[in-house]
Amino acid sequence: MNLNKPLVLMTHELPEDWVGELLEDYHVIKGINEERGLDSSLIKYLDKAEGILCLLDDPIPAEHLERAPKLKVVSNMAVGVDNIDLAACSRLGIAVGHTPGVLTEGTADLTVALLLAVCRRLPTASEDARQGRWTNWDPTGWLGVDLKNSIVGIIGLGKIGSAVGERLAAFGAQIIFTNRSPLPEKEKKLNATQVGLDELLRTSDFICLHVPLTEKTANLINEQAFRKMKSSAILINAARGSIVDTTALTRALKEGHIRAAGLDVTEPEPLPPSHPLYKLDNCLITPHIGSATFQIRQTMAKIALENLSAGIKGTHLPYCANPEIYT
Ligand code: GLV
Repeated sequence: MNLNKPLVLMTHELPEDWVGELLEDYHVIKGINEERGLDSSLIKYLDKAEGILCLLDDPIPAEHLERAPKLKVVSNMAVGVDNIDLAACSRLGIAVGHTPGVLTEGTADLTVALLLAVCRRLPTASEDARQGRWTNWDPTGWLGVDLKNSIVGIIGLGKIGSAVGERLAAFGAQIIFTNRSPLPEKEKKLNATQVGLDELLRTSDFICLHVPLTEKTANLINEQAFRKMKSSAILINAARGSIVDTTALTRALKEGHIRAAGLDVTEPEPLPPSHPLYKLDNCLITPHIGSATFQIRQTMAKIALENLSAGIKGTHLPYCANPEIYT
């Protein structure tokens, strides 16, 4: 091991042309691609590591951080940092890097794609065509619901929630939202109305989740929430799986408490192929691909490396999720 260079633990391989020369300044030890988090091949180096480069499904718990006295930075190639014990990082003075901004538009596009695919029943229609069930132009076949004049409820009008609202307003939907604080600017731009969660759940035709996963938002959409929704409601989740109670969602879809769901994120993740949600034709599931475009993923890798480099140098990260460590 060349200890003239700072040691970086990298949980997964990234394409050579995304990381370029940026990793040449470090001694990099890579983990096992198929495993999540710091696997046994990496844990043994924690005592010497100055940086960790990880992905959103790599848990980075306090017990690992506490074994890394030299660790200066955990750089997550994601905007969300719920996989990292942020409080432990702040307590130990470890900077946490993330990649906000670059995936806002892409994730909003994917949210709208999921919503349209679900409300116009594209997976069923496509499968029926493929399987020879398209026998005539059926006036009552594959009917979906309109987006125009519908009410779209956005839970969390942050960057991604606002970008979704802008897109759906252009389809003629009326936008309502909940947010931690009032947002007069965005309300004006979107012509959106801030409401309480109960009202949003009761009145929305489409409900889109765009809050981060925290203690407060875990299981926010539970059995009671589903009972409040219209039986025609469509739920779209491109935020984090654990915001929705998976068992309650499965029941709501099976028993018709809501019409359908589009999920880019699930709990657990990945959702095992045997899961009952896959058997429901009113549920469309994609494998957490909100930011999956060539351009976005490459930019995320670049920012993650910039954060890593700043952290190891001891300078302020360009995108820091726990800026309180600097005060
Ligand atoms: C995607 O879910 C991200 O947090 O980057």
